[in-house]
Order: sequence, then structure tokens, then C-alpha cells
Amino acid sequence: MFRHDALQGEVIVISGGGTGLGRAMAERFAALGARVGVFGRREAPLQEVVGAIQGAGSHAAWATADVRDADQIKAAIDSLERQLGPATGLVNNAAGNFLATTEDLSPNAFDAIVRIVLHGSFHCTRDLGRRWIARGTPGKVLSIVTTYAWTGSAFVVPSACAKAGVLAMTKSLAVEWATYGIRLNAIAPGPFPTEGAFSKLMPKELEEDALRQVPLGRFGDPAELADLAVYLLGPASAYMTGECVVLDGGEHLKAGQEFARFVDLPRDVVKGMMAALRPARS
Ligand code: HXC
Ligand code: NAP
Repeated sequence: MFRHDALQGEVIVISGGGTGLGRAMAERFAALGARVGVFGRREAPLQEVVGAIQGAGSHAAWATADVRDADQIKAAIDSLERQLGPATGLVNNAAGNFLATTEDLSPNAFDAIVRIVLHGSFHCTRDLGRRWIARGTPGKVLSIVTTYAWTGSAFVVPSACAKAGVLAMTKSLAVEWATYGIRLNAIAPGPFPTEGAFSKLMPKELEEDALRQVPLGRFGDPAELADLAVYLLGPASAYMTGECVVLDGGEHLKAGQEFARFVDLPRDVVKGMMAALRPARS
């Protein structure tokens, strides 16, 4: 889909780039010519992804940081820029989440998620934004949210509140920072079977049912999300800002449509029911 040098000259830093969707984006960006910096809390997965990228002949570096701490982010980005050159793009990908009944959440549990997802995305965006503005260079921010950023969702209330905030930040800064040539967009993925997400959010016994909720009949492939991210960080999307692109096989539309449950029945049964309801012609 992309030329092999589609991201040549880009230096993209990815929070949570050591695992799951973050890793898929890191490897894809590097394969298309970008220099990639990954950061997160644990060294081991970061080292592994950087090793894989370097082994494939591309440039990458890692740094540890907890996105809840603005000073740690600054130190990590300083270190990544020393190794790779000035950053041109940021992916706010780091997240925390778990299923819980809201009445049982402790204040600290709510804080833990909101501080990773909302405060963390803000700290990273602010840090890179200040660098780009001071240097007079353009920049791109891509935030990974979710479709319940606008519908909300039962049983993941801290994550829903935080992702809604990240989407609001994306749309707000798309206007405020356009004058500096800084674009901000988002991707709202449906279910992608990563270890991090599925081990926390997908009880095994509900997996088949979850598949049935996706009109296209399958979960997402991280490579598909990585390609959309390439588009949103690359020059082809230069006129797009403040947008959130859904990548969910139609899942959230099905959840909200009055007659969508008909698609779960054999089509001849559906046609039979509809024919029975149709008044006979006189
Ligand atoms: C209720 C919980 C809990 C749970 C933790 N807590 N797990 N409460 N149910 N399952 C509470 C703890 O008791 C504690 O409160 C507070 O949360 C903080 O917990 P810690 O373990 O001290 O936090 P920390 O070490 O900072 O770890 C953060 C974490 C952890 C979010 C809890 O799971 C984590 O590091 N996750 C990162 C990876 C991740 O979650 N990936 C999934 C992203 S998928 P008290 O009061 O006891 O101190 C995703 C998909 C979205 O976002 C869309 C899907 C469609
Ligand atoms: P994941 O593998 O668990 O990714 C989360 C990453 O965030 C990890 O690498 C983790 O690394 C990092 N992280 C967590 N807390 C951090 C902190 N305090 N500071 C720095 N880094 C931190 O899950 P994923 O599925 O790939 O999720 C990636 C993104 O996609 C998230 O934004 C998620 O909300 C979104 N998403 C995923 C799905 C899905 O179905 N997979 C659906 C919708 C949205 P450390 O633990 O080492 O810090």
C-alpha cells in the first residue's frame, strides 16, 4: 500500500511502543524509513522491539518513562532525540485499563487509569508541542482512543472518561496549534487481540460473542492499524486535522442500530420474516 520510503525523514516517538499495537506501529514505521523511539515503563519489551527493528536494518531507540510523570517524559524524549534526531511525530498509545463495576472502584483505581491515559497523553503532547513551537517546525500527533470515547461504556468508566478527554484534546489542539503547523488526529480501534487488551478485557467465554458483534466477522489485525497510522502521520493526510478514524469492522455501528440484530440470523430467515410483514398487493 505504501512506498518503501513513505516515512523517510520522520522521527516518530511512540508511548507504550514495546507491546501490542504500539509495537506493530513501531515496526511498520521503521520499515517505511522512519527513525522510531519507543518508551514505556518496562525495559525488556522496549529493548526487544528496538532489537528487532535494528536487526531488520532500520533505526530505533528506547527509553523508560512513566507517562504519568512529565519530568520522566521530558528526560525520555531528550534521550530519544539525542539518539535519533528531532522528533517529527508522536503517537499517544500508552494506556491502562481493566473491567470493574464502578461502585467497587477505589479513588486510586480511577486515578491510575485517568493519569495514564488522559494526563499521560497530555504530558507527551505538551512536551513535543513545546519543542515544535520553539523550533518553528511542524509536527504530528496521533492518539489511539476507542469508539467508547463518544458513546461511553459500562464497566470501563475510568478508561471511557479518559479516552473522551484525549479526543477532546485532539480536537481542541487541532485548532489551537494549526498555526504552528501541528496536526492532531486519532484512531478509534475496535477489538484487536493484543495480550495487553485481551488478557484484561476479554473473558475467554465471551470471545465468540464479541466476534459476532463485529459485522465484518473478525477481530482487527495490528498491521491494519499500523497502516492507517502511517497514513495519518504521513504527508498524504496533510489537510486532515482534528479527525478520529474508526477502525472496528463496523462494531460500534452495529451496537447502535435498531435492526442490526437481523444480521445474526440466516438471511433466508430474515427475508421470510420481512415477506410475512409485507402487505399483500390487491
Ligand atoms: C479494580 C483495580 C484493578 C481491577 C488495579 N486496580 N486493577 N481495581 N479492578 N482489575 C486498582 C488497584 O487496587 C489500585 O487501587 C489502583 O487500581 C492502582 O493499581 P496498581 O496495580 O498499583 O497500578 P499500576 O501498577 O499503576 O498499574 C496500572 C494498571 C495496570 C492499569 C492497573 O493494569 C497496568 O499497568 N496496565 C497497563 C497495560 C494495560 O492495561 N493495557 C490494556 C490497554 S487496552 P488501590 O486503591 O488498591 O491502591 C485498552 C483497550 C480499550 O485500553 C478499548 C477496548 C475495546
Ligand atoms: P498494551 O499492549 O497493553 O499496550 C499498552 C502499553 O502502554 C504497554 O506497552 C505499556 O508498557 C504502556 N504503558 C502503560 N502504562 C504506562 C505508563 N504509566 N507509562 C508508560 N507506558 C505505559 O495494549 P494494546 O492493545 O496494544 O493498546 C494500545 C492502545 O490501543 C491503547 O491506547 C489502547 O487503549 C488502545 N486500544 C486497544 C484496543 C484493543 O483491542 N487492543 C482497542 C481500542 C483501543 P509498560 O507496561 O511497560 O509501561
